[in-house]
Amino acid sequence: MIRKAVLPVAGLGTRFLPATKAQPKEMLTIVDKPLVQYAVEEVAESGIPMVVFVTGRGKTAIENHFDYSVELEQELAGRGKLELRNQLRSISGLLDVMYIRQKEARGLGHAILTAEPGVGPEAFAVLLSDDVIRSRVPCLRQMLEVHEHFGASVIAVQRVPRRDVSSYGVIRGEPVRDRGWHGRLFRILDMVEKPSPAEAPSNLAVVGRYILTSAIFVELKETRPGAGGEIQLTDGTWLPQSYG
Ligand code: G1P
Repeated sequence: MIRKAVLPVAGLGTRFLPATKAQPKEMLTIVDKPLVQYAVEEVAESGIPMVVFVTGRGKTAIENHFDYSVELEQELAGRGKLELRNQLRSISGLLDVMYIRQKEARGLGHAILTAEPGVGPEAFAVLLSDDVIRSRVPCLRQMLEVHEHFGASVIAVQRVPRRDVSSYGVIRGEPVRDRGWHGRLFRILDMVEKPSPAEAPSNLAVVGRYILTSAIFVELKETRPGAGGEIQLTDGTWLPQSYG
């Protein structure tokens, strides 16, 4: 039973500059919703009741987005725009929310480690909100089924063109011959963060959805800075001990 989803949102968003100079990248929109709302909705639709945001300086727009906006709501009610008011109110009612500050952006692995006091000893989910995944059955819910069956950590991957592998964590995996997953499930044997096309063990690239057992915290405490000088989640997760 997974009860918490961690959303790391403390990153500086340098790849989206100048759009992210004065606003969090998680608040960039697709159509009429910020990216982070798609992620929070996926968590809610997957039946997980709480989000732990790992946040940082300059990210208060995210906290405000998931809070009541009393003045705006009153204004809309006064103008008879009740449907819109209710829509705004429902965003803050989606889930219980907890915020933990990551004082410096030292990488995704470090962000996850920062979430430990909020997560405790249970397995938990991680969503990177710049990966928006459209699926009839939410990606995270599909992963929960795999986790419930095997009791192990689960990481979502997608096939990408070889030339693009250096933008991702890449796995070496062997297909799991088990009922039900239609050849889409792999046992992870190794993972490399941002390999060159020549070094990449496959073209199966990590997308931003993880279910991790709390063993990850032990590993991350031992993980040295890797690609880009940051503490990488990939470097902590591939260690066989993490796979209960
Ligand atoms: C992060 C992870 C990487 C993963 C990617 C998916 O990288 O470190 O393993 O493939 O997200 O979006 P980032 O995009 O933050 O550099």
